[in-house]
Amino acid sequence: MDRSTSKNVAVITGGAGGIGAATAAILQEDGWRVVIADLDLARAEAEAIRIGATACHIDISSKQSIEEAAAWVERDVGPCGALVACAAHLENPHRPENQDIAEFDRIIATNIRGTFLTVTAFGASMLRRGRGSIVTIGSITALNSSPLVAYGPSKSAILAMTRDFGGAWGRRGIRVNCVCPGPTRTPAVEASYARGERDPNVMTAQTALGHLVDPRDVGHAVAFLLSEKARSITGSILPVDAGTLVGQLWALYGGLPA
Ligand SMILES: NC(=O)c1ccc[n+]([C@@H]2O[C@H](COP(=O)([O-])OP(=O)(O)OC[C@H]3O[C@@H](n4cnc5c(N)ncnc54)[C@H](O)[C@@H]3O)[C@@H](O)[C@H]2O)c1
Repeated sequence: MDRSTSKNVAVITGGAGGIGAATAAILQEDGWRVVIADLDLARAEAEAIRIGATACHIDISSKQSIEEAAAWVERDVGPCGALVACAAHLENPHRPENQDIAEFDRIIATNIRGTFLTVTAFGASMLRRGRGSIVTIGSITALNSSPLVAYGPSKSAILAMTRDFGGAWGRRGIRVNCVCPGPTRTPAVEASYARGERDPNVMTAQTALGHLVDPRDVGHAVAFLLSEKARSITGSILPVDAGTLVGQLWALYGGLPA
């Protein structure tokens, strides 16, 4: 067990989802006292019971809900030492000219405004104590063109704000980093494969490593960045994508070598 994590509170928004739940389980194994915070309280409670964590409701599209959750954690659970800002509004692929603008607004409100408010609300108590670490969850869609035309730009903003917070809060004892998952086999993505919206074989063919990402692969990267082992890392952007980004330009030259 890493002594830096022992008995400290780690909050994960979107902690009832595929990547969030896998990350919550790893952080709990590492000795953090985990709070699974999610819009879906029933699923958050089920996950919390499964791994021995605590659950709470949060809606990151509401400033009031975020502030209430942050205050509840400090009062009823303990000093928050780590935050994983993982909750997001996802999107299916389409062309920009077909974008539903109400959906665009929901994505911006949840992913950009919601992540910013989550980091500032949970970061406030870290700033008071002069100690803490934060990981935001981006996406490789923030790093290249994709048909997720509202989601991708919203994730680019999360990369930018990660660097901003990292610069602003470094001297105050807080590190802020971002993990960018590639195609990850969460239950929601598996369901999308089953509906024929995405093809796992096409996605696997784009990866240098020849496999899709397991949710726990993302969790391990998050756990490392939150821990004292990463004490000299802030403002970094870490893709966990099984080599999807490095595989892309090989398509121009006949594809990745076998
Ligand atoms: N699965 C992938 O392939 C993939 C790839 C790149 C990035 N990501 C990112 O990883 C993170 C987790 O995604 P996932 O695949 O586990 O998705 P998921 O849908 O399984 O989980 C998302 C969770 O967020 C919660 N949530 C949604 N809106 C919320 C809100 N307003 N307030 C609080 N909670 C809310 C949902 O209830 C759900 O539990 C997201 O930030 C996503 O953008 C996922």
